[in-house]
Amino acid sequence: MSERFDTVDIIRVKRDRGTLSPEQIDWTIDAYTRGVIADEQMAALNMAILLNGMNREEISRWTAAMIASGERMDFSSLGKPTSDKHSTGGVGDKITLPLAPLVAVFGVAVPQLSGRGLGHTGGTLDKLEAIPGWRAALSNDEMMSQLADVGAVICAAGAGLAPADKKLYALRDVTATVEAIPLIASSIMSKKIAEGTGSLVLDVKVGSGAFMKNADDARELARTMVTLGKDAGVNTVALLTNMSTPLGLTAGNAIEVQESVEVLAGGGPSDVVELTVALAKEMLAAAGQPDADPAAALQDGRAMDVWRRMISAQGGDPDAELPVARESETIKAAADGVLTELDALSVGVAAWRLGAGRARKEDAVQAGAGVRLHAKPGDTVQAGQPLMTLLTDTPEKFERAKEALEGAAVIASQASGIQPLIIDRIS
Ligand code: URA
Repeated sequence: MSERFDTVDIIRVKRDRGTLSPEQIDWTIDAYTRGVIADEQMAALNMAILLNGMNREEISRWTAAMIASGERMDFSSLGKPTSDKHSTGGVGDKITLPLAPLVAVFGVAVPQLSGRGLGHTGGTLDKLEAIPGWRAALSNDEMMSQLADVGAVICAAGAGLAPADKKLYALRDVTATVEAIPLIASSIMSKKIAEGTGSLVLDVKVGSGAFMKNADDARELARTMVTLGKDAGVNTVALLTNMSTPLGLTAGNAIEVQESVEVLAGGGPSDVVELTVALAKEMLAAAGQPDADPAAALQDGRAMDVWRRMISAQGGDPDAELPVARESETIKAAADGVLTELDALSVGVAAWRLGAGRARKEDAVQAGAGVRLHAKPGDTVQAGQPLMTLLTDTPEKFERAKEALEGAAVIASQASGIQPLIIDRIS
């Protein structure tokens, strides 16, 4: 079959800072999905986009073409509003776990299609798979009936949703082209728009543990995604949140589930509670309930009830003991003072090296592995007090994890530079 365009011409347009036509974009995404454009050609095009950018029309068309590469889901027959949250990824980011059941308490259905971790950021599905029996793969029918019955579902995105993105993302991951704002925005929004949610709240992370290292880049990414969402009829808002230090006191799989259950029981670390409640308020407001009080539903057990039903509906036992790592090692504070920094990226890499994450997508993760923190920035510490506990089943991993943590904790004589958790809101 003769093709409409020549791939080399398309690469040349972006290399020379030109603008791709809608027809060229549609063809590029379709031809790459069909295998007509080779990986090395797409890698060159991605790099040209990373270096030279795309205008608003190009990003919007690129996103639409990725949506058109697969199926679109439709929750309109549920008869209730739908709302979803997407985080751009961070260390210790377990917020989806308490958030999905919390929002469902108020009659808003939460279709949370989640992913697995790759690199230093954890994956929601890996965390939930620490619960004995829990199953990530649901058919579309199972997902619909759980949304109708329980109101919240966290499951794997099926292969039919934005298949172009699956291929593109895997290529970007190995060609240093993940961090391009047009490519991140189109990747995330194509999946969310194809999923069919009525409203969407984006948690755009800023800091060492995030893709976006500074607030200006994060703001641009947030604005780009909010515009894409609104243009597609999805009521979209974004919060910019701090990812210079891990969220909560755990980075791993089972230990993050345990911390999420503490939050659902009305306790848990204050930053996890603050962000869960802030995102729940945004999701509920976007779904038409600006006066709902999610903090109360964490305190009185209503969110925990939905969590238990949500886990059971997917084969999990909410009362089962969670796996515990066989080995542990403690890192102690080197001096008296105030902990002013605890670097998110270092903790994420350490948790990953301990076995909580995977280097290749076919690797297995250890459910019990990770890093438990005993202090957070702003806390006063004494020399010799435990700062972190490293957890793994394979003790030969301790050395490399400790290397990742060298210089990660900064102790000073007085508090300084403590950053707010919620930095900005873009609507
Ligand atoms: N998450 C995604 O789904 N896509 C990206 O490009 C980056 C983060």
